[in-house]
Formats: sequence, C-alpha cells, structure tokens
Amino acid sequence: MQLAIFASGSGSNFQAIVEATESGVLDCRIAVCVSNKSNAGVLDRARRHHIPTLVLNPSDFAEETDYVSSLLARLEEHDVDFIALAGYMRMIPVAVVQRYAGRMLNIHPALLPAYGGKGMYGIRVHQAVLADGAATSGATVHLVDDEYDTGPIVLQETVPVFPSDTPEQLAARVLKVEHRVYPAALSLFAENRIDVQGRDVIVR
Ligand code: GRF
Repeated sequence: MQLAIFASGSGSNFQAIVEATESGVLDCRIAVCVSNKSNAGVLDRARRHHIPTLVLNPSDFAEETDYVSSLLARLEEHDVDFIALAGYMRMIPVAVVQRYAGRMLNIHPALLPAYGGKGMYGIRVHQAVLADGAATSGATVHLVDDEYDTGPIVLQETVPVFPSDTPEQLAARVLKVEHRVYPAALSLFAENRIDVQGRDVIVR
C-alpha cells in the first residue's frame, strides 16, 4: 500500500502512523504528506522522517477543477493508492473521493454517527459530548464519502467520559486512542482483510 496522509495541523496521528510503519506493525509505505497549509506542524514531522511533502491550497486555484487535476496528478507521481485524512481541514472534492473510492479513510474524535457533520470538529466535538452528559466517547475510523463524517465505519474504540472532564481532558483521552485505532484500521486494509459491501464493512 502506498499511502498519502493529508493533514492540516500538528499531525500527531500522522506521527502515530509513521511510527507504526517504522516498527513494522503497519506494512505500508508513506509516499507523501499532503497539507493545505505551508506552516502546518505535520510538515516538520514528515521532513524529520524523510517523507516527501506536498503543499496544495485549494484557495490558490481559480477553479476547483484545476485544483483537482493538480492534486490527482501529484498523487499519481507519488504512486499513491490509498489516502488517510488525519486532521485535514478541507472538504475533499468529489472527483478525488470517487477516484479513491473505498481507499480513503478519515478519523473522527467521537463515536460516529453521533457528534459528526459539518462544523463538528476539534474541541467543539468534545464540548458537545460533555454538554449532553454522555458517559462514553471515542474515536471512529471511517471510509470517506462525499459528505462530512457519513462514510461506512471501519473501526471504533471507546473511552469513558467523566463528569469532571474539561473538553481538553476528554480530547487528550480520545487522541490517545486515535493513535492506536488509526494504524490498526490501516493495517486491515494493508493486509487486504476488508470487504466493503454497500455500507457494510466486513473484516476477514
Ligand atoms: C484528531 O482529533 C482527528 O480525530 C481529527 O483531527 C485531529 C487531528 O489531530 N480529525 P492531529 O493533528 O493528528 O494531532
């Protein structure tokens, strides 16, 4: 598997995936780290691990089709056959989702289908979980379709929510689990153990 990881932020999930490949837990090559922000912390992490980087900001293109052609061409140059979104803060154009259908994952810091959708990202997710008094939260890895957070779920792991939690404390507890669950989900694909039938994800 030749993986592209897309990230806009600090990239702790990127780091966890890189470490899983370096320790042999995850058998794939990280072909390129893609960001829409030239100052994203994830790019420094990529450089430290000698992973090629690519900065493409959709806003720099007059037309979305130009952005899409450019992105797809660059992914092809890097032989990318699988994409992992890890804190990537831009919607992926439908043409790219279609090209990588069944081969693009995202991680979300809650138990989807709860606490997902447009505008539900970052600390807002954890604020919403706490406001509801939920007893459990967690992380979800799902396939990407052309809406926010609605694609078929591949793996989830739960964490407890304590009444005394701040959103930041809950975020930290979930993030720890993300670092385990994302490499695990990618491994299932790398080992060819996933069958997707409609919205059903079957693990062999
Ligand atoms: C994670 O919480 C992930 O679930 C969400 O964005 C955050 C990225 O964090 N999609 P990091 O940059 O990997 O630390």
